[in-house]
Amino acid sequence: MSQPPARRTVLRGAALAGAAGFGLAACSPGDSGANASAVPDQPVELGAAAEVPVGGAKLYREDRLVVSQPAKGTYKCFSAKCTHAGCILSEVEKKEGSCPCHGSRFDVTTGKVLQGPAADPLPEVPVKAKNGKLIAG
Ligand code: FES
Repeated sequence: MSQPPARRTVLRGAALAGAAGFGLAACSPGDSGANASAVPDQPVELGAAAEVPVGGAKLYREDRLVVSQPAKGTYKCFSAKCTHAGCILSEVEKKEGSCPCHGSRFDVTTGKVLQGPAADPLPEVPVKAKNGKLIAG
């Protein structure tokens, strides 16, 4: 009976260690993501709007943006730069984005902080779908 929980704990620990390693890489000096501005200063084409699931979200890590589609045809875009210390969110699951550095979590449909240490919401970025493509900024 004790075998499955113990195994899960070990696997979970390994997953967390992996995430932490990734986070350290993301925060290393010279990572342009940590120093670049949180929101784009000119329009960025993100690709097909259909790639963002209804009721879910897609992370555009290279563009440091996350786009959600809370209702069909309604898109919300936020900076994917964590407001705690500037790491870029590493993962989005349904409507929750997580930061690999210190574990902050954000609601990517509102930008709100769900779990600290980040205290401020993700800045919103205007986004529109044009000819089936998403344009942010
Ligand atoms: S930089 Fe995101 S939680 Fe610290």
